[in-house]
Amino acid sequence: MSINKSDVKRVTTNVVQALKANGEKIAMLTAYDFSMAKILDAAGIDILLVGDSASNVMAGHETTLPITLEQMIYHASSVVRAVKRALVVVDLPFGSYQGNSEEALKSAIRIMKESGAHAVKLEGGEEILESVARILTAGVPVMGHLGLTPQSIYKFGTYTVRAKKKAEAKKLLDDASLLEDAGCFALVVEKIPAELATKVAEKLSIPVIGIGAGSGVDGQVLVMQDMLGITNEFNPRFLRRYADLFGEINTAVQNYIADVKDKSFPSSEEQY
Ligand code: KIV
Repeated sequence: MSINKSDVKRVTTNVVQALKANGEKIAMLTAYDFSMAKILDAAGIDILLVGDSASNVMAGHETTLPITLEQMIYHASSVVRAVKRALVVVDLPFGSYQGNSEEALKSAIRIMKESGAHAVKLEGGEEILESVARILTAGVPVMGHLGLTPQSIYKFGTYTVRAKKKAEAKKLLDDASLLEDAGCFALVVEKIPAELATKVAEKLSIPVIGIGAGSGVDGQVLVMQDMLGITNEFNPRFLRRYADLFGEINTAVQNYIADVKDKSFPSSEEQY
């Protein structure tokens, strides 16, 4: 299967897996609203993640914990309405799946039914396997997420690199295999050593998508506001900024304010 951008009308979980099989890297970004999702989709992004990072970048919370299932559905349905090609994956928010597989299934079904998204993502390994298995029984594709899992920030205590020690690295490798065996179609690994991430990608046959996990994985994901420079205070080593939208928007708004104040906007051509 050749996977050129123009060949794929709709990115499905099968297409994502074929990209790995073909050795083509997968490009994933977060999106939370209609207008931005439209731009990212038109640019040819493979996967749009409606991340619970919406809690940070859209709502201004310090962590991802406060965002609710209803708010995730609102963001997801806005993204789905914009997208023609990308696969749309939605985070199950904190408290909507942990420790209760029945609740997990209900949450996943609500997301799929009410937003029209194509898959869900859950954080965790062995401890969430029952939830993963139950969601899969309903035919809902599941993406895993290991390494730095922000919903557990109060357990970790910091946002530093995970799995640097042997025992945690071994658990991560084991969890990755468990998630693959349970039926996850792909896995995100966040902020772990590049060598370990490469090992995970080599061990699994499903795609492994990294954020702060080096280049040896099958794809990359970044938070859209960070890579476009809308946020300008978050500067981790792994982040590459592709634009300075904070600066560009700031200049545009200052120009607008000046034009309004000096009465040069609107001109005679810009009125009825
Ligand atoms: O919520 C999110 O944006 C994520 C990515 C960082 C992978 O989970």
